[in-house]
Amino acid sequence: MRMSEIQKTAVVTGAGSGIGRAVALALAGAGWRVTLAGRRAEALRETADLAGPGAPVAVLPTDVTVPEQVDALFTAVRERFGPLGLLFNNAGTGTPAVPVDQLPYDTWRSVVEVNLNGAFLCAQAAFRAMKNQHPRGGRIINNGSVSAHVPRPDSIAYTATKHAVTGLTKSLSLDGRPHRIACGQIDIGNAATDMTAPMRDGIKQADGTVRPEPVMDAADVARTVVHMASLPLEANVQFATVMATSMPYIGRG
Ligand SMILES: NC(=O)c1ccc[n+]([C@@H]2O[C@H](COP(=O)([O-])OP(=O)(O)OC[C@H]3O[C@@H](n4cnc5c(N)ncnc54)[C@H](OP(=O)(O)O)[C@@H]3O)[C@@H](O)[C@H]2O)c1
Repeated sequence: MRMSEIQKTAVVTGAGSGIGRAVALALAGAGWRVTLAGRRAEALRETADLAGPGAPVAVLPTDVTVPEQVDALFTAVRERFGPLGLLFNNAGTGTPAVPVDQLPYDTWRSVVEVNLNGAFLCAQAAFRAMKNQHPRGGRIINNGSVSAHVPRPDSIAYTATKHAVTGLTKSLSLDGRPHRIACGQIDIGNAATDMTAPMRDGIKQADGTVRPEPVMDAADVARTVVHMASLPLEANVQFATVMATSMPYIGRG
């Protein structure tokens, strides 16, 4: 195998909706064998159906916060498809806007559990697989957010965990160097999914006003992830920001 050839086996977490679904379909369309992970089996099966008959996709219901389920996911992928080329570490959750002094600790913990602990468990399992497999190496793409850089009002749990994803990305990049493991991050702003439904009705701005915000198609995010995934392992998009062009992010508002 030439150094630049990549294993086209992928795991996508949160593949039953939104960005995960769009990325899974785009990867399958680009010739990847894709394992769809997420808690809701029915939603994953819908994604598989959308990929079309005979598409090389497998459904594996997984809660990314449960270490045994994450281990079982990556073991099953190895047994079924062989060496792992890509993890799109996408599963995530938010909360309705809550002022920091009123945020219940359980809510904080539930966001940390998915966005940080779940992302870590999946990245760790992928890293282990990629380090030990033949041919060695692979790529992890973490789904951060523009909230990995700047907060929205009343979003401390989401913002803090997405900043933490940047730490995961940087550590995985560094620790992956000797093992041919590349790690990059996509930071998205306002793709039209269930999570961003409030953007269309109106969302609190930094100045306290409530205004609707522009959104973009999740398929345009997916095209970027496919590009990042298709590079040879000797090249890496370290960070990519893909956002609705006129959303309030660049500039002051
Ligand atoms: N849409 C945007 O503009 C935007 C912007 C920045 C970042 N993001 C990030 O993009 C990712 C996907 O979000 P989305 O917009 O596509 O929203 P979404 O449709 O709500 O997707 C979230 C996905 O995560 C999965 N998930 C949640 N908890 C899980 C768990 N414990 N185990 C396994 N899967 C779990 C959900 O599947 P199940 O419920 O079936 O488990 C769901 O498919 C998130 O990390 C989000 O922070 C999105």
